[in-house]
Amino acid sequence: MPSVNLTRSSAEPAGAISCSRPAPGRRPEFLLFSPPTIGEEEISEVVDTLRSGWITTGPKTQRFEAEFAARLGAPAALGLNSCTAGLHTALAALGIGPGDEVITSPLTFAATINVIEHVGAVPVLADVAPDTMNLRPEAVEAALTAKTRAIIAVHYAGHPADLDVLRDLAERAGATLVEDAAHALIAFYRGRAIGSGPNPVAFSFYATKNLTTGEGGMLTGDPAFLERCRVLSLHGMSRDAWRRYANGGSWRYDVVAAGFKYNMTDIQAAMGLAQLRKLERFQQRRREIAERYTAAFQELDGLETPTIRPDVAPAWHLYVVRLNPSALRIGRDQFIDELTARNIGTSVHFIPIYRHPFYRDRYDLHPGMFPVTDGSYRRMLSLPLHPGLSDRDVSDVIEAVRDVERLYRR
Ligand SMILES: Cc1ncc(COP(=O)(O)O)c(C=O)c1O
Repeated sequence: MPSVNLTRSSAEPAGAISCSRPAPGRRPEFLLFSPPTIGEEEISEVVDTLRSGWITTGPKTQRFEAEFAARLGAPAALGLNSCTAGLHTALAALGIGPGDEVITSPLTFAATINVIEHVGAVPVLADVAPDTMNLRPEAVEAALTAKTRAIIAVHYAGHPADLDVLRDLAERAGATLVEDAAHALIAFYRGRAIGSGPNPVAFSFYATKNLTTGEGGMLTGDPAFLERCRVLSLHGMSRDAWRRYANGGSWRYDVVAAGFKYNMTDIQAAMGLAQLRKLERFQQRRREIAERYTAAFQELDGLETPTIRPDVAPAWHLYVVRLNPSALRIGRDQFIDELTARNIGTSVHFIPIYRHPFYRDRYDLHPGMFPVTDGSYRRMLSLPLHPGLSDRDVSDVIEAVRDVERLYRR
């Protein structure tokens, strides 16, 4: 299988960017796009694990799985070393492979699509809806074939996808609805937490995410299905080391599948336990900041603020604005440069999958096939949104965005 080095620059903090020229009203320090919010509680939990004599998958991972599942109301949870691992393991455990197709969104991080390649299936991209930038059910329906085995719904920016409609489409096609919830901790769709159902849902604890363990992930879903995933996530072994060595357990195990090395460590789980206790506070702060941004920007001609559908509560992982080209004399790239010059870090989520050379060339894809995704991509940028932002930081972002919009209005 051909391989490429895809950079993840669009997902990384923009801290390394230095401002090219000073701008009026520029804040003195560069505002990082998305640093992690880590306190003494995380440090103490990690130190406790380091001193405990057990640092890989063990009691803290078990506790983190149980507390995470309880927090969401999930039937069960499996700790892993990334969201990518969760998506890959879920597809493998579903038995998806060569000859199968998996439908998903082009407006996502490469991991969502790479895992489809990893199991040997074909990714089929469907365009997104103009309001939420989540999969558009009509486009998914048009992409269904007799080979469709799964639909991966990406909850873009933390706004839940149209789950009831997508689940109906999946059921009619005899396929499984898998959810990429990398951005959706914690979000609600029609009163139900994302991850509370029986289908496979993968969360990310990457450094920029709403809850971080440095690197890490969690898969939620049906307990029996997750037990199959647990075996696959650790070399296909019937029992993990904790169950073999703790409390005088036996050294014996069987390898029952050609599994992966995707297990979460207790060091990661220690961070996760401390972060989970703060999640409510983090989410409250994210909501407050998003509300301030929307109140400040919604009257500006040059910007389109995020749409929130009435039947959801988003996780506010990202605050994505789209520029209005008919109202501005500059495009997205120059808008970003102007914000950088004002010491405001930004990012773009995402470079659409069909624009990456590997997928473009392999499947002969071009932007004209995905007009809503591409139109949005060309005018989108993500503003800083994390619980560590002070009120002053938020005011600085608002001031800078307003200033650039005013300066370049047509
Ligand atoms: C939409 C989406 N899916 C999947 C991933 C992969 O998550 P992880 O880095 O935990 O594997 C990311 C991470 O940036 C993401 O944004």
